[in-house]
Amino acid sequence: MKKLTAKFDNSTDDLNFQLQFGILENISHSLKVEFTVIKNKMKTNFVTGANSGLGLWTSKCLLDLNYTVIMACRNIEKAQKSIDSFLKFKIKKNYVVKILDLGNFDSIRSFVKGISKHENIWRLNCNAGLSYTETFRNTKNGMEKIFGTNYIGHLLLKNLLLERFKLKRIVFIASSLHDPKNKSPFAPAVFREINELAYPKENPDSTLKKQCEEFYATSKLCMLLFAYKLNRRLKHKNLSYKTFINAINSGLMLTTNLGRTHKFGENLYRSLLDFIFKIIGFSNNPKSSGRSVVKLTNAVTTSGKYYEKGRPVPSPIDSYDRVKAIRLWEGSEAIIGSKFLSK
Ligand SMILES: NC(=O)c1ccc[n+]([C@@H]2O[C@H](COP(=O)([O-])OP(=O)(O)OC[C@H]3O[C@@H](n4cnc5c(N)ncnc54)[C@H](OP(=O)(O)O)[C@@H]3O)[C@@H](O)[C@H]2O)c1
Repeated sequence: MKKLTAKFDNSTDDLNFQLQFGILENISHSLKVEFTVIKNKMKTNFVTGANSGLGLWTSKCLLDLNYTVIMACRNIEKAQKSIDSFLKFKIKKNYVVKILDLGNFDSIRSFVKGISKHENIWRLNCNAGLSYTETFRNTKNGMEKIFGTNYIGHLLLKNLLLERFKLKRIVFIASSLHDPKNKSPFAPAVFREINELAYPKENPDSTLKKQCEEFYATSKLCMLLFAYKLNRRLKHKNLSYKTFINAINSGLMLTTNLGRTHKFGENLYRSLLDFIFKIIGFSNNPKSSGRSVVKLTNAVTTSGKYYEKGRPVPSPIDSYDRVKAIRLWEGSEAIIGSKFLSK
C-alpha cells in the first residue's frame, strides 16, 4: 500500500501514472472477479437428472462459474459413482447430491422439505428426462412413466419450490419433438385429455414403440403449454420479484443415456449417426449443450419463450393454445392433489 501512495505522489510522471492506473485496474479486476465468485456461490441452482448426459455437464458448467449446485438424482450411489468418474468434479466443493425421484410424489415432497429455508434458490433446471420403448411402465404413483416423470414430476417439484422460495430462473429442457409437425421419423406429439396422457391404454392399431415415442413427444409439448401458462399466471400475480421461465431445446445429443433401452444395434446406429451428424454440424454433445443452457439462462431477461440454438423462436401453434393449457393445468392439479396460483 505504501508503494502505491508513493507512486501517487509522483502522478505528474506520465509513465508512473500509467503504471498506477494499471495496478488500480488490476486490483479492480481482481475485486470484480472475487465479487462474482462470492455472488455466484450464494446462488443455489437445482439440476434434476444431474448424474448423466446434459444434466452432468450443466452441473459442471455451473460449478466452473462458482455457483452452488444441488444435483438432484434418483439414486445417490449411482450418481456419486458417475460424478466421481467424471474426474473434474473431484476438485469442486460447492455441490451436493440429493435424492429425488420425479416418478414418486413422496420423494419430491421430502426433497423439497429437506432444503433449508435459508437457501437462496436461484435457478431450477428441469432437465431430467426419460424415454423407453415397448412395454408400458408406470411411476410409483401409477402413471405412465414418461409423462409422469418428464412432465408431472417436474410440475409438482416446481410448485413446491415456488411455494417456499423466490426462484429467479426456471428452465425446462425441451425437444424439437414437441412439434407435431416435426419431420423426424419419431411419432408426433398428440395432445389428449389428461387421463389419457397419464393412464394410457394400449392401442391395437399402433405399435408399443410408436406409442412410447408419442408419450415422450407429448410430455415435451405439455411442458411448453405449462411453461407459458405458468408465466402468464405469475405475471398476473404481480409478485415483488421476477421469475424468468423459459424452455430451451438442447438439440440432438445422440450419445447420452436417453436411449438406454434401445437395442444394441440401434445404439450402434446412433453412435455412427452421431459421428456423421457431428461432421456436418447437425448433432451436439452434452458438453456444448450444457454450456449453452447455462449461458442462455444467465443472460435471458425474457420469460415465456422457447429457445433453439440460443435464440427465441416460435413454438408450434398447439403450445400456445390457452384452452388446452387450462385443461392441462387443472387436470395436472387434480392428479398431484394440490393447487398452485389458482387465480
Ligand atoms: N439426448 C437428446 O438428443 C435430447 C434432445 C432434446 C432434449 N433432450 C432432453 O435433455 C434432457 C437430458 O437428457 P439426456 O439426453 O442427457 O439423457 P440422460 O443421459 O439419460 O439423462 C437423463 C437424466 O434424467 C434422470 N432421470 C430419469 N428419470 C428420473 C426420475 N424419475 N427422477 C429423477 N431423475 C430421473 C436420469 O437418471 P438415471 O441415470 O438415474 O436414470 C438421468 O440423470 C432430457 O430432458 C431430454 O428429454 C435430450
